[in-house]
Amino acid sequence: MAIAIYPGSFDPITHGHIDIARRARKLFSRLVIAVVANPQKNSLFTLGERVTLTRQALDEEGLGDIEVTSFDGLLVECARAHHADAIVRGLRANSDFEYEFQMALANRDLAPEYESVFFMTAGNYSFLASSMVKEVASYGGDVSKFVPRSVDAALRARLRREKP
Ligand code: PNS
Repeated sequence: MAIAIYPGSFDPITHGHIDIARRARKLFSRLVIAVVANPQKNSLFTLGERVTLTRQALDEEGLGDIEVTSFDGLLVECARAHHADAIVRGLRANSDFEYEFQMALANRDLAPEYESVFFMTAGNYSFLASSMVKEVASYGGDVSKFVPRSVDAALRARLRREKP
């Protein structure tokens, strides 16, 4: 069976990401979550924190056999380093499609040997995004049903500390 890499910012990992990882894990013999070093948006958590939180969250959810790594540079280079066959991404609303399509075509142009594979979000996670979780948490809202316990605790600690 094939090896897949699931890249993203994971700032922080949510139940939406975990759902995709859990389902992808069933189809691939090895799944590697690859946390990007420099996300396109400013990140709340450092790279080290995002990797640690992702690892903790997967362990908490009984997904200890999913590997976690980080990468700086091109995703296809990271895929190559892990001998991946496929790149996994989640698709939520229509609005995700254009960005994902562009990224998949760019990656195919760079390295045609990797197939991009998309998992449709579970309906109850279709609105869920790390950015939304951070916004709700920053106003003191309860995000405990959107993220694993360790992530919820990290958000509380970080946002409490960041208040003036
Ligand atoms: O969770 P995100 O922020 O939507 O993930 C985006 C990510 C990390 C998958 C994407 O930005 C990426 O692959 N970055 C690495 C640079 C790269 O390879 N770019 C070429 C593809 S457009």
